[in-house]
Amino acid sequence: MNQTRRNLLRLAGLAMAAGAMPGRALAVPAPRKVSIEEFARSVDPVDGLARNWSAVTARGKSGEVNAMTAGWGGLGNAWKKPVCTVYIGPHYTRKLIDETGRFAVTYFEGACRQELTYLGTHTGAEEKDKIAKAGLHLADLGGHPAIAEGGFACVCRVLLRHELSAKDFVDASIPRDIYGSRGWSVLYCAEIESAWKLS
Ligand SMILES: Cc1cc2nc3c(=O)[nH]c(=O)nc-3n(C[C@H](O)[C@H](O)[C@H](O)COP(=O)(O)O)c2cc1C
Repeated sequence: MNQTRRNLLRLAGLAMAAGAMPGRALAVPAPRKVSIEEFARSVDPVDGLARNWSAVTARGKSGEVNAMTAGWGGLGNAWKKPVCTVYIGPHYTRKLIDETGRFAVTYFEGACRQELTYLGTHTGAEEKDKIAKAGLHLADLGGHPAIAEGGFACVCRVLLRHELSAKDFVDASIPRDIYGSRGWSVLYCAEIESAWKLS
């Protein structure tokens, strides 16, 4: 995580709040599109989510944007495509993903723990300004929203959507121990359409 960039984003936000022209306040470097190969070399396919945490962002059909923290999922390939897999519970972000079939995953390399804890414990169903309240900003990845404070991000198109249930599990301890107290996840396997370096 680039601290200078985070400070710039914060200052740009303050300047905007004080009435500066959008985009004129401070020059925050724009996200740079990178090859899938560079992205795959830079993001840990397992710990990118598990240990380092990530944010899943989606824009609904009315234009509304929301984000949530995600720790389950990974990167790989299927059906001759580079894919990103995530497991999303019955959250507001899931409603927006299902409206458009697209989402982005922002990877933080272990930074922004406090901000991601906020995103992961509050819901956009109740807080329409949840991303700003978390102290985070949006980045524009060719028309798709991601979180500007991250290191890398990918834009994903859903290929497979499967709502999990007890009968899917060969290992019965998972529905018992993990899903006993929470709603079932939807497994999304999505094509990585584009990859970006944010900082
Ligand atoms: C570290 C961390 C990891 C999380 N990982 C996931 C995940 O992989 N899948 C999921 O459905 N929820 C996960 N959550 C919970 C959601 O981020 C949380 O329920 C969030 O408030 C949903 O936001 P929303 O209602 O605005 O969509 C995680 C939360 C934290 C703090």
